[in-house]
Amino acid sequence: MMNQVTLIDSGYDCWLGYKRIADSALRESYAQYGSRFVVIGGEGDGDENGEGLGASSLLRTAGKELELALSSMLGSVTRERVSGAGMVVAGTFGSSSAFESLAGAYEPAELGEEGYVIHSSEEDGCIYLSAASERGVLYAVFHFIRLLQTDQQLEGLRIQEVPRNGLRMINHWDNMDGSVERGYAGNSIFYRDGRFIEDKSRIRDYARLLASAAINAISINNVNVHRQESKLITDEFLPDVAEVAGIFREYGVRLFLSVNYASTIEIGCLDTADPLDSGVAEWWKQAAADIYRYIPDFGGFVVKADSEFRPGPFTYGRNHADGANMLADALAPFGGEVIWRCFVYNCLQDWRDRKTDRARAAYDHFMPLDGQFRDNVMLQIKNGPMDFQVREPVSPLFGGLTKTNHLLELQIAQEYTGQQRHLCYLVPQWKEVYDFDTYASGAGSTVAEIASGRLFGRARGGIAAVSNIGDDLNWCGHVLAQANWYGYARLAWNPDLSAEQIASEWIRMTFGRDEELERIVLDMLLGSYSIYESYTAPLGVGWMVNPNHHYGPNVDGYEYSKWGTYHYADRLGMGVDRTVRTGTGYAGQYHAPVAERYESLADCPDELLLFFHHVPYLHVLHSGKTVIQHIYDTHFSGAEQAAELLAKWDTLASRVDSGRFEHVRERLAHQAEHACEWRDMINTYFYRKSGVADEQGRTIY
Ligand code: GCU
Repeated sequence: MMNQVTLIDSGYDCWLGYKRIADSALRESYAQYGSRFVVIGGEGDGDENGEGLGASSLLRTAGKELELALSSMLGSVTRERVSGAGMVVAGTFGSSSAFESLAGAYEPAELGEEGYVIHSSEEDGCIYLSAASERGVLYAVFHFIRLLQTDQQLEGLRIQEVPRNGLRMINHWDNMDGSVERGYAGNSIFYRDGRFIEDKSRIRDYARLLASAAINAISINNVNVHRQESKLITDEFLPDVAEVAGIFREYGVRLFLSVNYASTIEIGCLDTADPLDSGVAEWWKQAAADIYRYIPDFGGFVVKADSEFRPGPFTYGRNHADGANMLADALAPFGGEVIWRCFVYNCLQDWRDRKTDRARAAYDHFMPLDGQFRDNVMLQIKNGPMDFQVREPVSPLFGGLTKTNHLLELQIAQEYTGQQRHLCYLVPQWKEVYDFDTYASGAGSTVAEIASGRLFGRARGGIAAVSNIGDDLNWCGHVLAQANWYGYARLAWNPDLSAEQIASEWIRMTFGRDEELERIVLDMLLGSYSIYESYTAPLGVGWMVNPNHHYGPNVDGYEYSKWGTYHYADRLGMGVDRTVRTGTGYAGQYHAPVAERYESLADCPDELLLFFHHVPYLHVLHSGKTVIQHIYDTHFSGAEQAAELLAKWDTLASRVDSGRFEHVRERLAHQAEHACEWRDMINTYFYRKSGVADEQGRTIY
């Protein structure tokens, strides 16, 4: 059944467009339940506009959303004051006898702070959306709406959902001048010209989108905290921060700030930031007290220290536990947390030095400190040991650390994966990370089990990711990049969801009901990561991009740099020897049998071969091809497939509104052309280096 295509759609609504359901039979079947609803409980707290601090602002949000969704999708809806037969009944378990029967069928105790149930009762024709907490009710409401948006049956619903990750966070790399570091979708929605943007309506729309996919935490400024942003924790900006925190609060999202480790010097009047200095500790205690006066439920600090020229405890001969614990002690009385990043490495390396290995750095710095961090510290670890390349092994800190709370950090922003001009649906990449078995505690010790905190019985855990949104009308620069934002959040809730399931859901919610469209866009999304990988840096070696902005091919862009990012290609071969036997020893940071697999040239998976080994161009892969032929083949086929993405999209001209159609078309056309640039530069470079001709005699320059 095809959707009524509106003429121009900017993509602003993302997956919450709530189009009227065109199929009248389906609409009527939904209306049996959905033409009336009630939200029970929580009344009285907060003021009329939902500005109050009371948790009931979450129920008010839930009510508003139900009203909007049901009236838009079904045509009309009546909000009732008391529950009765044949309606949607939302509320917390304890708030009404209406939910009593549910308590028997479900295990409210297992639902925790955020879980919920959705239950359709045959007896009274009601659909119950209930949870132990108001935040859970809000999530139940969004889940219920999703059922309607994706044509699900409402009869016999018996859904119980509990998030797998406690913290499900988005990190913004927004600066107060309005720019976004590694932003590919316009400017910041928070700041302009050194101040907060007056009109906060876009922030509210953003909070709503986050809540719809159950994101529960956000940091709103860049991890590289410059002078102006350092002042976010002072009286000058705390009223603004509090206002923004209030908006997010209504949607169940806790607000964090990135802080400058050297604040005591830069905005305080101390001459040191030594974490063991009592004056420094006192300064931070006072700063924390000030923040909590404005924002009683403030989440805490995100800290990038001793990394890429940011200050940190190393200056004072102290370690990262000293630094993190000092901040943690300041926040602890208020229930705040420190999220301390493990992206720490020597960024002034000499390219001539083959012993130092950036990939080793995070593990080398943080493993010796395992167990030394306070309970309210979480270490935030990038998925790979380098920096969000299209292909990297999983960081060995997952499975290494057992006595420290930690988080997995992903990058939704497509810094190295096409900068939201190329289509690259990242959920398949993230699934590989979540599913990776570290063998830390025998088989089945997956990153998903570790990051959640479950495997090692940690009290805290979860996921954070760098945002891909900005003030572009469609939020993400590329409409199809919205699927990454949505997919990140859905996986954070449940890493067992498949890439396909998430993509289908997103397509239906975003473009409406159209089987042909769904088939084609699904095919495009699911193929896109592997297509992107095939025409860019080969076999896990990474980094063949232009310096600074990181867009476009440049094989030697980082080869003679100080950043620790080399492929070591010469006339005989290429790749980085990270074995224990002859290389940097990085492969030894994993548990058996992973360490052995990576160490062995025979067993190392093809896609990571050049990450772990330096091999001749004629080395034969498991696929049966030589390395050089693999490079040629993948680059020719990758560029062809990129062109096919465009051809596939073109078949949808009559099925997508012209606004989104033309926008995506323009991006895909650029991608197809740019993929040829990648193909030709990489192939030509390695042909010239190796002198080995393509078996198929295709054009290489
Ligand atoms: C990458 C990125 C930087 C960012 C850094 C980080 O290196 O290019 O812009 O600051 O990651 O994660 O801190």
